[in-house]
Amino acid sequence: MAHEIPAVELAPGVNLPTIGFGTWQITGRSAYESARAALDAGYRHIDTATMYGNEEEIGRALRDSGLDRSEVFITTKLPPSQAGKERQTLDASLKALGVDFVDLWLIHWPPARGRSLPTWVSFLEQRDAGRIRSAGVSNYDTALVDELIKETGETPVVNQVPWSPAQHDPRFLDDMRDRRVVVEGYSALKNTPLDDPRLVKIAEAHGVTVPQVVLRWQLHHDVVIIPKSTHPERMAQNLAVLEFSLTADEIATVNDV
Ligand SMILES: NC(=O)c1ccc[n+]([C@@H]2O[C@H](COP(=O)([O-])OP(=O)(O)OC[C@H]3O[C@@H](n4cnc5c(N)ncnc54)[C@H](OP(=O)(O)O)[C@@H]3O)[C@@H](O)[C@H]2O)c1
Repeated sequence: MAHEIPAVELAPGVNLPTIGFGTWQITGRSAYESARAALDAGYRHIDTATMYGNEEEIGRALRDSGLDRSEVFITTKLPPSQAGKERQTLDASLKALGVDFVDLWLIHWPPARGRSLPTWVSFLEQRDAGRIRSAGVSNYDTALVDELIKETGETPVVNQVPWSPAQHDPRFLDDMRDRRVVVEGYSALKNTPLDDPRLVKIAEAHGVTVPQVVLRWQLHHDVVIIPKSTHPERMAQNLAVLEFSLTADEIATVNDV
């Protein structure tokens, strides 16, 4: 592998690579080819969801890659509309992916009022049954995370939320850190003005691209990144953010973009 991707331990023996490959809005042949290319480029963490409609293609890409199942961290997500049908939804994900377990299962969005807690209890049951190695949430605010912890004594290991310079919220990061919840940031590139002169200047100083600056900035804040691309050269670029570092001044500048 070209880059050794650092991992964060979510639970004993469950190690989440801090760079993953996002797969929203790629389906069919494009999903298969992109996932294959990402695995060839060195990604060992793939982020999918029931709602993305591409689990089958990702499972096939994984099998065809020749990699061992244990080498690739797979995340999928339960749509909030499936609250109450957790077991069946997970059955369908495992079948489509062609795996016996996923490494991380997330509640994609908070289910309608009153359903978050029972869904979380169901997630814990699936984890204890060995069908998921870890359980987390997505698009949860601190109060919703706290409700789950208070009622079950079990903390979601991950909260996947939108994160970009304009959405930077240090207090939320502190809240999650205090609770030992790993933050994964999504849509960082989509939600950033990539022609911002402050970002362009930093990129030029390091001989990298603006998307690389944004992704590197997230990693500096201990936010796990999951950029999506259908272009192998961009996939490689997004992994190569491990090859440079931002200064404290540059991080402060990006915080304010
Ligand atoms: N939990 C949730 O509710 C939620 C919501 C949204 C997303 N997500 C997850 O987060 C992942 C990432 O978010 P996202 O897909 O919305 O957006 P993103 O990764 O921020 O941006 C993807 C866009 O950036 C382009 N891009 C990627 N790398 C680039 C580079 N190096 N240079 C220039 N352009 C580049 C891609 O174009 P090309 O493909 O043409 O290269 C694509 O248009 C998703 O794929 C999904 O897995 C989760």
